[in-house]
Amino acid sequence: MCEKNEEFYTKAKEYWAEIPATVDGMLGGYGHVSQTDIQGSRHFLKTVFQGSDSPGTETALDCGAGIGRITKHLLSTIFMKVDLVEQNAEFLEQAKDYLQPEILKIGEFYPISLQYFQPQENKYDVVWMQWVLGHLTDDHLVDFLITCKKSLKPKGVIVIKENLTANGEVEVDECDSSVTRPYKAYMEIFQRAGVKCYRKQKQAHFPKELFTVYMFALRPNANCDNDTQ
Ligand SMILES: C[S@@+](CC[C@H](N)C(=O)[O-])C[C@H]1O[C@@H](n2cnc3c(N)ncnc32)[C@H](O)[C@@H]1O
Repeated sequence: MCEKNEEFYTKAKEYWAEIPATVDGMLGGYGHVSQTDIQGSRHFLKTVFQGSDSPGTETALDCGAGIGRITKHLLSTIFMKVDLVEQNAEFLEQAKDYLQPEILKIGEFYPISLQYFQPQENKYDVVWMQWVLGHLTDDHLVDFLITCKKSLKPKGVIVIKENLTANGEVEVDECDSSVTRPYKAYMEIFQRAGVKCYRKQKQAHFPKELFTVYMFALRPNANCDNDTQ
Protein backbone atom coordinates (compact mmCIF):
# COMPACT_ATOMS: atom_id res chain seq x y z
CA MET A 1 0.00 0.00 0.00
CA CYS A 2 1.36 3.47 -0.82
CA GLU A 3 2.43 5.79 1.99
CA LYS A 4 -0.44 8.24 1.44
CA ASN A 5 -3.07 5.50 1.74
CA GLU A 6 -1.35 4.04 4.79
CA GLU A 7 -1.54 7.42 6.51
CA PHE A 8 -5.23 7.78 5.55
CA TYR A 9 -6.04 4.42 7.17
CA THR A 10 -3.76 4.85 10.19
CA LYS A 11 -5.31 8.21 11.05
CA ALA A 12 -8.83 6.71 10.86
CA LYS A 13 -7.80 3.85 13.14
CA GLU A 14 -6.36 6.33 15.62
CA TYR A 15 -9.54 8.42 15.48
CA TRP A 16 -11.85 5.45 16.16
CA ALA A 17 -9.56 4.16 18.94
CA GLU A 18 -10.51 7.27 20.95
CA ILE A 19 -14.27 6.99 20.38
CA PRO A 20 -16.50 5.43 23.06
CA ALA A 21 -18.09 2.10 22.15
CA THR A 22 -21.62 3.46 22.36
CA VAL A 23 -24.39 4.29 19.89
CA ASP A 24 -23.63 7.97 20.38
CA GLY A 25 -19.96 7.28 19.64
CA MET A 26 -20.84 5.38 16.45
CA LEU A 27 -22.99 8.28 15.29
CA GLY A 28 -20.66 11.15 16.12
CA GLY A 29 -22.84 12.50 18.93
CA TYR A 30 -26.07 11.99 16.96
CA GLY A 31 -27.19 8.86 18.78
CA HIS A 32 -30.70 10.32 18.85
CA VAL A 33 -31.06 9.79 15.07
CA SER A 34 -30.48 6.04 15.37
CA GLN A 35 -34.16 5.14 15.53
CA THR A 36 -35.06 7.29 12.52
CA ASP A 37 -32.11 5.81 10.65
CA ILE A 38 -33.21 2.24 11.39
CA GLN A 39 -36.82 3.00 10.41
CA GLY A 40 -35.66 4.44 7.09
CA SER A 41 -33.44 1.41 6.47
CA ARG A 42 -36.24 -1.01 7.33
CA HIS A 43 -38.56 0.73 4.91
CA PHE A 44 -35.92 0.59 2.17
CA LEU A 45 -35.18 -3.09 2.81
CA LYS A 46 -38.90 -3.84 2.47
CA THR A 47 -38.79 -2.42 -1.06
CA VAL A 48 -35.69 -4.53 -1.76
CA PHE A 49 -37.66 -7.63 -0.77
CA GLN A 50 -40.49 -6.82 -3.18
CA GLY A 51 -40.62 -8.70 -6.46
CA SER A 52 -39.93 -12.24 -7.60
CA ASP A 53 -36.17 -11.78 -7.66
CA SER A 54 -35.85 -10.68 -4.05
CA PRO A 55 -32.94 -11.92 -1.89
CA GLY A 56 -33.33 -14.56 0.80
CA THR A 57 -33.33 -13.89 4.54
CA GLU A 58 -30.76 -16.40 5.68
CA THR A 59 -27.44 -14.57 6.02
CA ALA A 60 -26.35 -10.92 6.07
CA LEU A 61 -23.01 -9.17 6.50
CA ASP A 62 -22.73 -5.87 8.41
CA CYS A 63 -19.66 -3.98 7.12
CA GLY A 64 -17.96 -1.44 9.39
CA ALA A 65 -20.37 -2.72 12.00
CA GLY A 66 -19.02 -0.78 14.98
CA ILE A 67 -20.72 -2.13 18.12
CA GLY A 68 -23.45 -3.78 16.04
CA ARG A 69 -26.10 -1.04 16.13
CA ILE A 70 -27.52 -1.96 12.70
CA THR A 71 -27.20 -5.68 13.33
CA LYS A 72 -29.12 -5.38 16.60
CA HIS A 73 -32.00 -3.19 15.50
CA LEU A 74 -32.35 -4.16 11.84
CA LEU A 75 -30.43 -7.08 10.38
CA SER A 76 -30.93 -9.59 13.22
CA THR A 77 -34.67 -8.90 13.08
CA ILE A 78 -34.78 -10.02 9.43
CA PHE A 79 -31.93 -12.48 8.84
CA MET A 80 -31.30 -15.82 10.52
CA LYS A 81 -27.56 -15.15 10.84
CA VAL A 82 -25.54 -11.95 10.67
CA ASP A 83 -21.75 -11.68 10.38
CA LEU A 84 -19.98 -8.49 11.44
CA VAL A 85 -16.78 -7.04 10.00
CA GLU A 86 -15.14 -4.10 11.77
CA GLN A 87 -11.58 -2.73 11.97
CA ASN A 88 -11.76 -1.86 15.70
CA ALA A 89 -11.55 -5.10 17.71
CA GLU A 90 -12.75 -3.35 20.89
CA PHE A 91 -16.01 -2.35 19.20
CA LEU A 92 -16.56 -6.00 18.30
CA GLU A 93 -15.85 -7.06 21.89
CA GLN A 94 -18.47 -4.53 23.04
CA ALA A 95 -20.84 -5.89 20.37
CA LYS A 96 -20.82 -9.24 22.16
CA ASP A 97 -22.48 -7.52 25.15
CA TYR A 98 -24.54 -5.02 23.18
CA LEU A 99 -25.97 -7.81 21.02
CA GLN A 100 -27.58 -9.70 23.90
CA PRO A 101 -30.01 -11.41 23.42
CA GLU A 102 -29.59 -11.22 19.62
CA ILE A 103 -26.23 -13.00 20.02
CA LEU A 104 -27.84 -16.31 19.01
CA LYS A 105 -28.32 -14.86 15.57
CA ILE A 106 -24.71 -13.75 15.21
CA GLY A 107 -22.44 -15.84 13.04
CA GLU A 108 -18.88 -14.58 12.73
CA PHE A 109 -17.08 -11.54 14.11
CA TYR A 110 -14.31 -10.43 11.72
CA PRO A 111 -11.95 -7.88 13.34
CA ILE A 112 -10.35 -6.67 10.10
CA SER A 113 -10.39 -3.60 7.86
CA LEU A 114 -12.63 -3.80 4.80
CA GLN A 115 -9.69 -3.20 2.44
CA TYR A 116 -8.15 -6.50 3.61
CA PHE A 117 -11.34 -8.52 4.13
CA GLN A 118 -12.05 -11.48 1.84
CA PRO A 119 -15.59 -12.69 2.55
CA GLN A 120 -16.56 -16.24 1.77
CA GLU A 121 -17.97 -16.63 -1.72
CA ASN A 122 -21.68 -17.30 -2.34
CA LYS A 123 -22.62 -16.77 1.32
CA TYR A 124 -24.71 -13.62 1.74
CA ASP A 125 -28.26 -12.63 0.87
CA VAL A 126 -27.57 -9.03 1.81
CA VAL A 127 -24.28 -7.20 2.39
CA TRP A 128 -24.97 -3.98 4.32
CA MET A 129 -22.43 -1.10 4.19
CA GLN A 130 -23.31 1.99 6.17
CA TRP A 131 -21.35 5.03 7.24
CA VAL A 132 -18.00 3.37 6.63
CA LEU A 133 -17.23 3.68 2.91
CA GLY A 134 -15.84 7.19 3.32
CA HIS A 135 -12.97 5.46 5.10
CA LEU A 136 -11.95 3.60 1.93
CA THR A 137 -10.06 5.07 -1.01
CA ASP A 138 -11.94 4.96 -4.33
CA ASP A 139 -9.73 2.13 -5.61
CA HIS A 140 -10.19 0.06 -2.46
CA LEU A 141 -13.93 0.67 -2.53
CA VAL A 142 -14.10 -0.59 -6.11
CA ASP A 143 -12.06 -3.67 -5.13
CA PHE A 144 -14.24 -4.23 -2.05
CA LEU A 145 -17.45 -4.09 -4.09
CA ILE A 146 -15.99 -6.58 -6.56
CA THR A 147 -15.06 -8.88 -3.67
CA CYS A 148 -18.51 -8.52 -2.12
CA LYS A 149 -20.19 -9.31 -5.44
CA LYS A 150 -18.59 -12.75 -5.25
CA SER A 151 -19.80 -13.17 -1.68
CA LEU A 152 -23.44 -12.81 -2.75
CA LYS A 153 -25.84 -15.66 -3.34
CA PRO A 154 -27.41 -15.59 -6.84
CA LYS A 155 -30.24 -13.23 -5.78
CA GLY A 156 -28.11 -11.37 -3.26
CA VAL A 157 -27.99 -7.61 -2.91
CA ILE A 158 -25.46 -5.07 -1.61
CA VAL A 159 -27.02 -2.14 0.25
CA ILE A 160 -25.03 1.05 0.71
CA LYS A 161 -26.22 3.80 3.03
CA GLU A 162 -23.93 6.80 3.02
CA ASN A 163 -23.70 10.57 3.36
CA LEU A 164 -23.53 12.50 0.09
CA THR A 165 -22.22 16.00 -0.55
CA ALA A 166 -24.60 18.42 -2.23
CA ASN A 167 -22.02 20.44 -4.17
CA GLY A 168 -20.77 17.70 -6.47
CA GLU A 169 -17.36 17.69 -4.78
CA VAL A 170 -15.59 15.22 -2.52
CA GLU A 171 -15.25 16.68 0.98
CA VAL A 172 -12.32 15.57 3.10
CA ASP A 173 -12.62 15.29 6.88
CA GLU A 174 -9.10 15.47 8.33
CA CYS A 175 -10.43 14.82 11.82
CA ASP A 176 -11.68 11.24 11.31
CA SER A 177 -9.70 10.73 8.06
CA SER A 178 -12.63 10.10 5.77
CA VAL A 179 -14.15 11.50 2.60
CA THR A 180 -17.76 12.29 1.78
CA ARG A 181 -18.51 11.71 -1.88
CA PRO A 182 -21.11 13.26 -4.14
CA TYR A 183 -23.77 11.15 -5.86
CA LYS A 184 -21.91 11.07 -9.17
CA ALA A 185 -18.73 9.71 -7.54
CA TYR A 186 -20.70 6.72 -6.23
CA MET A 187 -22.23 6.14 -9.67
CA GLU A 188 -18.74 6.09 -11.20
CA ILE A 189 -17.51 3.70 -8.52
CA PHE A 190 -20.51 1.38 -9.10
CA GLN A 191 -19.77 1.35 -12.81
CA ARG A 192 -16.10 0.53 -12.25
CA ALA A 193 -17.07 -2.28 -9.86
CA GLY A 194 -19.60 -3.79 -12.29
CA VAL A 195 -22.60 -3.29 -10.04
CA LYS A 196 -25.85 -1.62 -10.94
CA CYS A 197 -27.95 0.50 -8.65
CA TYR A 198 -31.48 -0.78 -9.25
CA ARG A 199 -33.20 0.98 -6.33
CA LYS A 200 -32.39 4.06 -4.29
CA GLN A 201 -34.02 6.21 -1.64
CA LYS A 202 -33.17 9.32 0.31
CA GLN A 203 -33.30 9.03 4.11
CA ALA A 204 -36.10 11.24 5.44
CA HIS A 205 -36.44 13.17 8.70
CA PHE A 206 -32.77 13.68 9.54
CA PRO A 207 -31.62 16.93 11.16
CA LYS A 208 -31.08 19.63 8.54
CA GLU A 209 -27.44 20.22 9.47
CA LEU A 210 -26.45 16.66 8.48
CA PHE A 211 -25.37 15.55 5.03
CA THR A 212 -28.03 14.13 2.75
CA VAL A 213 -28.11 10.36 3.22
CA TYR A 214 -28.98 7.92 0.43
CA MET A 215 -29.60 4.20 0.33
CA PHE A 216 -28.61 2.26 -2.79
CA ALA A 217 -29.49 -1.35 -3.61
CA LEU A 218 -26.89 -2.88 -5.91
CA ARG A 219 -26.68 -6.06 -7.90
CA PRO A 220 -23.93 -7.45 -10.09
CA ASN A 221 -24.49 -6.07 -13.61
CA ALA A 222 -25.21 -9.50 -15.05
CA ASN A 223 -28.17 -10.01 -12.67
CA CYS A 224 -29.83 -6.69 -13.50
CA ASP A 225 -30.97 -7.07 -17.09
CA ASN A 226 -34.67 -6.64 -16.30
CA ASP A 227 -34.44 -4.16 -13.44
CA THR A 228 -35.34 -0.52 -13.54
CA GLN A 229 -34.21 2.21 -11.15
C1 LIG B 1 -19.61 6.00 11.74
S1 LIG B 1 -19.23 4.45 12.46
C2 LIG B 1 -20.63 3.52 11.86
C3 LIG B 1 -20.80 2.20 12.54
C4 LIG B 1 -22.03 1.44 12.03
N1 LIG B 1 -21.96 1.22 10.61
C5 LIG B 1 -23.28 2.19 12.40
O1 LIG B 1 -23.88 2.81 11.49
O2 LIG B 1 -23.67 2.14 13.56
C6 LIG B 1 -17.91 3.91 11.37
C7 LIG B 1 -17.34 2.54 11.70
O3 LIG B 1 -16.49 2.13 10.63
C8 LIG B 1 -15.33 1.55 11.20
N2 LIG B 1 -14.26 1.64 10.20
C9 LIG B 1 -13.54 2.73 9.85
N3 LIG B 1 -12.68 2.41 8.88
C10 LIG B 1 -12.86 1.10 8.60
C11 LIG B 1 -12.26 0.21 7.68
N4 LIG B 1 -11.30 0.60 6.85
N5 LIG B 1 -12.68 -1.08 7.68
C12 LIG B 1 -13.65 -1.49 8.53
N6 LIG B 1 -14.26 -0.68 9.42
C13 LIG B 1 -13.87 0.60 9.45
C14 LIG B 1 -15.07 2.35 12.45
O4 LIG B 1 -14.21 1.67 13.33
C15 LIG B 1 -16.50 2.54 12.98
O5 LIG B 1 -16.87 1.43 13.75
